[in-house]
Amino acid sequence: MGKVFHVDHQIANKNVEDSITEWTRVVRYSDINSEDRLFGGTLMSWLDEVAGIVATRHSGNPVTTAAIDNMQFKQGAKLDDIIVIIGKITHVGKTSMEVRVDTYVEDRRNGMRHVMNRAYFTEVCIDDDNTPVLVPYGLNVRTENEKAEWEGAEKRRELRRQRRMEGF
Ligand SMILES: CC(C)(COP(=O)(O)OP(=O)(O)OC[C@H]1O[C@@H](n2cnc3c(N)ncnc32)[C@H](O)[C@@H]1OP(=O)(O)O)[C@@H](O)C(=O)NCCC(=O)NCCS
Repeated sequence: MGKVFHVDHQIANKNVEDSITEWTRVVRYSDINSEDRLFGGTLMSWLDEVAGIVATRHSGNPVTTAAIDNMQFKQGAKLDDIIVIIGKITHVGKTSMEVRVDTYVEDRRNGMRHVMNRAYFTEVCIDDDNTPVLVPYGLNVRTENEKAEWEGAEKRRELRRQRRMEGF
């Protein structure tokens, strides 16, 4: 049995697998820029959608994106490329969750996936008035990988807090 992270207001825990989301699509003409490459803003909107789905599946609550960080573009994509986006929850706070989103270009010939982008999204549970509300579920952290992601997320949370306080 792995480590269980929750705080008093959380009614139960979920596993990372409960909300993991994989999203696949082909790059179309409407997705490319004048250089015949996938437009970065289009990719970002897909990532935001996947992150939102992951956070909603975990919390069962409407969410909004508060922050995106560590967004790294490792390689581009072109017309007809197969894009695979995988989102998974890494951390649950009081009202916020962190979601890691990895993007790959899949080779049509052999199915090999090449890393294209990685980003961490902060998704916040909100009510009808856009006010943050508590995330009702904690997270079971069961593998070494999940533990490393949780610990990394705690460091990123602290960095975000400092950035907000100091305005940099
Ligand atoms: C996200 C939002 C609801 C947060 O409201 P807020 O009044 O700042 O709320 P709080 O200060 O109580 O923070 C709520 C949680 O969000 C986190 N958070 C807020 N702003 C953050 C930021 N800039 N970066 C990272 N986390 C942030 C806090 O750490 C806190 O997490 P915790 O409860 O797990 O500790 C509000 O800023 C908002 O509505 N932003 C616009 C969101 C939006 O429109 N997104 C779509 C982009 S177009």
